[in-house]
Amino acid sequence: MLRMPTAGTPYDLVEIARATLGLCENDRAQTAFSRSLKKYLDVENLILVNSGTTACYLLLELFKKIRISDKRNEIILPAYTAPSLLLPIRAAGLNAVLVDTDPDTFNIDIRKIRAAITPQTLAIMPVHMFGLPVDIAPIVEAVTEQEIFIIEDAASSLGSVIGGRQTGAIAPFGFYSLNRGKNVSTLAGGIIVWKEPGYTALLKDLAANLPPVSHKAEFLMWLRFLGLSMAVRPLGYTALAPILAKFKYTTLHTHFDSFAYTDMQAALGKILWRRIEQLTNRRVGNGLALMRIFAGRPGFTTPTILPDAMAAFNQFPVIVHDLGRRQRLQEKLLKIGIETTLMYEKPLHYIFPELNPRTYDNFPQATYLAEHLLLIPPHTQIGLALLKKIKTIVEATD
Ligand SMILES: Cc1ncc(COP(=O)(O)O)c(C=O)c1O
Repeated sequence: MLRMPTAGTPYDLVEIARATLGLCENDRAQTAFSRSLKKYLDVENLILVNSGTTACYLLLELFKKIRISDKRNEIILPAYTAPSLLLPIRAAGLNAVLVDTDPDTFNIDIRKIRAAITPQTLAIMPVHMFGLPVDIAPIVEAVTEQEIFIIEDAASSLGSVIGGRQTGAIAPFGFYSLNRGKNVSTLAGGIIVWKEPGYTALLKDLAANLPPVSHKAEFLMWLRFLGLSMAVRPLGYTALAPILAKFKYTTLHTHFDSFAYTDMQAALGKILWRRIEQLTNRRVGNGLALMRIFAGRPGFTTPTILPDAMAAFNQFPVIVHDLGRRQRLQEKLLKIGIETTLMYEKPLHYIFPELNPRTYDNFPQATYLAEHLLLIPPHTQIGLALLKKIKTIVEATD
């Protein structure tokens, strides 16, 4: 039985070959890719870096330079999100303050943000989890005049839209990830976007200080392009399963490296962008099909997609209230080649207990979500035949 990869953008060999040619284009590839991204995201200002984590870190460093007081050192974020977000916050010498999750949207509970704001709040970082858009406009409105920065984490929501605008490009600051598991991947990568042209020089300065990638590292990256293009296809994924297991993130990252984005990655990104509509539409369509399978079925809770929003699902999240049923479902789906995941099994305040200020569980919705979630891949390689099989299996577990 062939197994579907849990994530990934498959590149074909022609795309990799053209990306290799990007090496000879110098920064022309970066300029061209940035131009495509600016047009797609409808933004004026954008910088490419090596990862979403670095993108977040540089924005936090910018906030430190432009804050009204050194006492402002708190970053508000949801209690259920990627634990790796704590790395740039801590590397910048700032403190995380958590807000519980909304059980309907699976995202930060925007009604609870106000209570988390203190005179030390530097920034609020809503995260569009799994590609599900957060309603950013009311958060921005609530803090006007308060000198609090809003930074959208759109790491896993590239292509999602709310109110006619791309997630990540609504607040004054945002960032995206192009890592291997994201909606579009150039193996790794991060995109920083911001509205106010007055910050451009400072951000460009921060990015210009990132170390360049050596020729050896660039060659290794090329080999990893090849590896990834095989590993995210069912045949390669099944054959390489024992090796790939070693590369999956199973332990918490404790460190991140920051360096420049490469011309080769930009050349690949530029080529992939030709099929951005197709890549995104499949994620949207597959997510909606999965929603129809699970929504309203007893024992499951699906996320609410806000009105006027379109979710380019990075993963399709569903809460399975009975954990035994969740396990049986995982086993049955695996038999038809669908590998599901449980990321992240614990919320941030379990991983970092110091973020739970009082002795009881301060963020119970985030805990429940983390402990009951099942993630089903919605990427372009999942087609109608597999969706039908998923439906039959889900109905059989009623
Ligand atoms: C919500 C979220 N934010 C930030 C990141 C960091 O992105 P990167 O892996 O490119 O550093 C991730 C990556 O997994 C993520 O899921």
